[in-house]
Amino acid sequence: MIRIAPSILSADFARLGEEIEDVRRSGADWLHVDVMDGLFVPNISIGLPVVASVRKATDMFLDVHLMITKPVRYARRFCEAGADMVTVHVEADTAENITRALEEIHACGKQAGLVLKPATSAEAAEPFLPLLDMVLVMTVEPGFGGQKFMADMLPKIRALRTMLDREKPGCLLEADGGADPTTAPRLIEAGCDVLVAGSAVFGKTDRAAAIRAIRGEV
Ligand code: DX5
Ligand code: ZN
Repeated sequence: MIRIAPSILSADFARLGEEIEDVRRSGADWLHVDVMDGLFVPNISIGLPVVASVRKATDMFLDVHLMITKPVRYARRFCEAGADMVTVHVEADTAENITRALEEIHACGKQAGLVLKPATSAEAAEPFLPLLDMVLVMTVEPGFGGQKFMADMLPKIRALRTMLDREKPGCLLEADGGADPTTAPRLIEAGCDVLVAGSAVFGKTDRAAAIRAIRGEV
Protein backbone atom coordinates (compact mmCIF):
# COMPACT_ATOMS: atom_id res chain seq x y z
CA MET A 1 0.00 0.00 0.00
CA ILE A 2 1.08 3.56 -0.66
CA ARG A 3 2.78 5.31 2.26
CA ILE A 4 1.73 8.87 3.11
CA ALA A 5 4.33 11.23 4.57
CA PRO A 6 2.77 14.52 5.73
CA SER A 7 5.23 17.41 5.48
CA ILE A 8 5.38 19.47 8.67
CA LEU A 9 6.23 22.50 6.52
CA SER A 10 2.46 23.08 6.35
CA ALA A 11 1.88 22.43 10.08
CA ASP A 12 1.29 25.05 12.77
CA PHE A 13 4.82 25.27 14.18
CA ALA A 14 3.59 26.79 17.45
CA ARG A 15 1.66 23.56 18.08
CA LEU A 16 4.02 21.15 16.35
CA GLY A 17 3.80 18.30 18.88
CA GLU A 18 -0.01 18.23 18.74
CA GLU A 19 0.03 18.52 14.95
CA ILE A 20 2.34 15.50 14.66
CA GLU A 21 0.25 13.45 17.08
CA ASP A 22 -2.87 14.36 15.09
CA VAL A 23 -1.47 13.08 11.77
CA ARG A 24 -0.07 9.97 13.46
CA ARG A 25 -3.50 9.13 14.87
CA SER A 26 -5.01 9.98 11.49
CA GLY A 27 -3.08 7.18 9.77
CA ALA A 28 0.05 8.87 8.41
CA ASP A 29 2.87 6.39 7.73
CA TRP A 30 5.91 8.68 7.90
CA LEU A 31 6.65 12.29 8.84
CA HIS A 32 8.40 14.41 6.19
CA VAL A 33 10.71 17.15 7.49
CA ASP A 34 11.79 19.88 5.05
CA VAL A 35 15.13 21.50 5.90
CA MET A 36 15.98 24.62 3.84
CA ASP A 37 19.06 26.80 4.05
CA GLY A 38 18.04 29.89 2.07
CA LEU A 39 20.82 29.11 -0.43
CA PHE A 40 19.97 25.88 -2.19
CA VAL A 41 16.34 27.07 -2.20
CA PRO A 42 14.98 30.60 -1.75
CA ASN A 43 13.45 29.87 1.65
CA ILE A 44 14.52 29.03 5.21
CA SER A 45 12.55 26.52 7.25
CA ILE A 46 13.81 24.46 10.17
CA GLY A 47 17.01 22.76 11.25
CA LEU A 48 18.72 20.47 13.75
CA PRO A 49 17.03 21.57 17.02
CA VAL A 50 13.56 21.05 15.56
CA VAL A 51 14.46 17.57 14.26
CA ALA A 52 15.81 16.70 17.73
CA SER A 53 12.61 17.93 19.41
CA VAL A 54 10.39 16.10 16.92
CA ARG A 55 12.41 12.95 17.59
CA LYS A 56 11.62 13.24 21.31
CA ALA A 57 7.94 13.90 20.62
CA THR A 58 7.16 10.94 18.36
CA ASP A 59 8.26 7.47 17.33
CA MET A 60 7.12 8.07 13.74
CA PHE A 61 9.59 7.38 10.91
CA LEU A 62 11.32 10.72 10.20
CA ASP A 63 11.99 11.34 6.51
CA VAL A 64 14.34 14.35 6.51
CA HIS A 65 14.61 16.16 3.17
CA LEU A 66 17.75 18.32 3.08
CA MET A 67 17.35 21.25 0.70
CA ILE A 68 20.80 22.55 1.61
CA THR A 69 24.02 23.25 -0.28
CA LYS A 70 26.82 20.73 0.35
CA PRO A 71 24.72 18.36 2.52
CA VAL A 72 27.83 16.31 3.37
CA ARG A 73 28.54 19.01 5.98
CA TYR A 74 25.40 18.19 7.98
CA ALA A 75 24.20 14.69 7.02
CA ARG A 76 25.72 13.06 10.10
CA ARG A 77 24.27 15.64 12.46
CA PHE A 78 20.75 15.16 11.09
CA CYS A 79 21.17 11.42 11.64
CA GLU A 80 22.30 12.06 15.20
CA ALA A 81 19.36 14.43 15.73
CA GLY A 82 17.03 11.51 15.06
CA ALA A 83 16.30 11.19 11.33
CA ASP A 84 15.45 7.67 10.11
CA MET A 85 15.92 8.58 6.44
CA VAL A 86 18.01 11.50 5.18
CA THR A 87 17.67 12.58 1.55
CA VAL A 88 20.14 14.85 -0.24
CA HIS A 89 19.79 16.66 -3.56
CA VAL A 90 22.00 15.41 -6.38
CA GLU A 91 22.31 19.04 -7.54
CA ALA A 92 23.64 20.23 -4.17
CA ASP A 93 27.32 19.25 -4.57
CA THR A 94 29.83 17.28 -6.66
CA ALA A 95 29.14 13.58 -7.28
CA GLU A 96 32.05 12.74 -5.01
CA ASN A 97 30.66 14.74 -2.10
CA ILE A 98 27.11 13.45 -2.63
CA THR A 99 28.55 9.92 -2.47
CA ARG A 100 30.31 10.81 0.79
CA ALA A 101 27.08 12.19 2.24
CA LEU A 102 25.18 8.99 1.37
CA GLU A 103 27.98 6.89 2.87
CA GLU A 104 27.96 8.94 6.08
CA ILE A 105 24.20 8.47 6.46
CA HIS A 106 24.64 4.70 6.16
CA ALA A 107 27.59 4.78 8.57
CA CYS A 108 25.15 6.26 11.11
CA GLY A 109 22.87 3.28 10.57
CA LYS A 110 20.20 5.36 8.80
CA GLN A 111 18.57 5.12 5.39
CA ALA A 112 19.82 7.36 2.58
CA GLY A 113 17.96 8.87 -0.35
CA LEU A 114 18.70 11.02 -3.39
CA VAL A 115 16.42 13.87 -4.50
CA LEU A 116 15.97 15.09 -8.08
CA LYS A 117 14.77 18.61 -8.85
CA PRO A 118 12.26 18.91 -11.71
CA ALA A 119 14.96 19.78 -14.28
CA THR A 120 17.16 16.81 -13.30
CA SER A 121 16.80 13.64 -15.37
CA ALA A 122 16.07 10.15 -14.04
CA GLU A 123 19.49 9.04 -15.30
CA ALA A 124 21.18 11.35 -12.77
CA ALA A 125 20.23 8.84 -10.05
CA GLU A 126 21.73 5.83 -11.77
CA PRO A 127 25.39 6.12 -10.62
CA PHE A 128 24.23 6.38 -6.99
CA LEU A 129 21.80 3.42 -6.98
CA PRO A 130 24.05 1.04 -4.98
CA LEU A 131 23.97 3.60 -2.13
CA LEU A 132 20.25 4.39 -2.22
CA ASP A 133 17.32 3.26 -0.10
CA MET A 134 15.04 5.78 -1.82
CA VAL A 135 14.82 8.13 -4.79
CA LEU A 136 12.72 11.27 -4.27
CA VAL A 137 11.30 13.04 -7.31
CA MET A 138 10.32 16.67 -6.82
CA THR A 139 6.96 17.32 -8.45
CA VAL A 140 7.24 21.06 -7.69
CA GLU A 141 10.28 23.34 -7.53
CA PRO A 142 11.66 22.83 -4.01
CA GLY A 143 11.27 25.67 -1.55
CA PHE A 144 7.60 26.10 -0.77
CA GLY A 145 4.48 24.13 0.11
CA GLY A 146 1.19 24.54 -1.67
CA GLN A 147 2.48 24.78 -5.25
CA LYS A 148 0.86 23.35 -8.36
CA PHE A 149 1.66 19.72 -9.19
CA MET A 150 3.94 19.29 -12.25
CA ALA A 151 2.27 16.52 -14.25
CA ASP A 152 5.24 16.51 -16.64
CA MET A 153 7.23 14.72 -13.91
CA LEU A 154 5.12 11.55 -14.36
CA PRO A 155 7.27 10.14 -17.23
CA LYS A 156 10.38 10.60 -15.05
CA ILE A 157 8.69 8.71 -12.21
CA ARG A 158 7.79 5.88 -14.62
CA ALA A 159 11.38 5.77 -15.92
CA LEU A 160 12.71 5.57 -12.36
CA ARG A 161 10.22 2.82 -11.47
CA THR A 162 11.53 0.77 -14.38
CA MET A 163 15.15 1.55 -13.46
CA LEU A 164 14.66 0.60 -9.79
CA ASP A 165 12.77 -2.60 -10.58
CA ARG A 166 15.62 -3.62 -12.88
CA GLU A 167 18.68 -2.38 -10.99
CA LYS A 168 17.76 -1.80 -7.33
CA PRO A 169 14.64 -3.73 -6.28
CA GLY A 170 13.55 -2.65 -2.82
CA CYS A 171 14.71 0.93 -3.32
CA LEU A 172 11.69 3.15 -2.59
CA LEU A 173 10.35 5.83 -4.93
CA GLU A 174 8.88 8.96 -3.34
CA ALA A 175 7.23 12.03 -4.87
CA ASP A 176 7.14 15.44 -3.19
CA GLY A 177 4.97 18.40 -4.10
CA GLY A 178 1.35 18.93 -4.99
CA ALA A 179 0.10 15.48 -3.96
CA ASP A 180 -3.64 15.58 -3.26
CA PRO A 181 -6.67 13.34 -3.89
CA THR A 182 -6.61 14.28 -7.60
CA THR A 183 -2.90 13.86 -8.31
CA ALA A 184 -2.21 10.91 -5.96
CA PRO A 185 -3.83 8.25 -8.20
CA ARG A 186 -1.57 9.39 -11.06
CA LEU A 187 1.53 9.23 -8.86
CA ILE A 188 0.57 5.78 -7.57
CA GLU A 189 -0.13 4.53 -11.09
CA ALA A 190 3.28 5.84 -12.21
CA GLY A 191 4.95 3.69 -9.54
CA CYS A 192 5.45 5.75 -6.37
CA ASP A 193 5.80 3.96 -3.03
CA VAL A 194 5.66 7.08 -0.83
CA LEU A 195 3.80 10.36 -1.29
CA VAL A 196 4.72 13.52 0.60
CA ALA A 197 1.68 15.70 1.28
CA GLY A 198 1.93 19.06 3.02
CA SER A 199 -1.01 21.33 2.36
CA ALA A 200 -3.32 18.44 1.40
CA VAL A 201 -2.99 17.06 4.96
CA PHE A 202 -1.99 19.86 7.35
CA GLY A 203 -4.13 22.35 5.45
CA LYS A 204 -7.27 20.33 6.29
CA THR A 205 -9.06 20.16 9.62
CA ASP A 206 -9.98 16.47 9.30
CA ARG A 207 -6.56 14.92 8.71
CA ALA A 208 -7.87 11.34 8.79
CA ALA A 209 -10.29 12.11 5.96
CA ALA A 210 -7.52 13.95 4.09
CA ILE A 211 -5.15 10.97 4.31
CA ARG A 212 -7.86 8.50 3.31
CA ALA A 213 -8.71 10.70 0.31
CA ILE A 214 -5.06 10.76 -0.82
CA ARG A 215 -4.95 6.97 -0.50
CA GLY A 216 -8.06 6.85 -2.69
CA GLU A 217 -10.12 5.26 0.07
CA VAL A 218 -13.12 7.59 -0.23
C1 DX5 B 1 8.80 21.70 -1.02
C2 DX5 B 1 8.86 20.64 0.03
C3 DX5 B 1 7.63 19.83 0.16
C4 DX5 B 1 6.39 20.60 0.53
C5 DX5 B 1 5.23 19.90 -0.10
O1 DX5 B 1 10.07 22.23 -1.18
O2 DX5 B 1 9.93 19.74 -0.23
O3 DX5 B 1 7.84 18.74 1.05
O4 DX5 B 1 6.18 20.69 1.91
O5 DX5 B 1 4.09 20.67 0.11
P1 DX5 B 1 2.75 20.41 -0.73
O6 DX5 B 1 2.33 18.99 -0.46
O7 DX5 B 1 1.82 21.42 -0.15
O8 DX5 B 1 3.07 20.64 -2.18
ZN1 ZN C 1 10.09 17.86 0.95
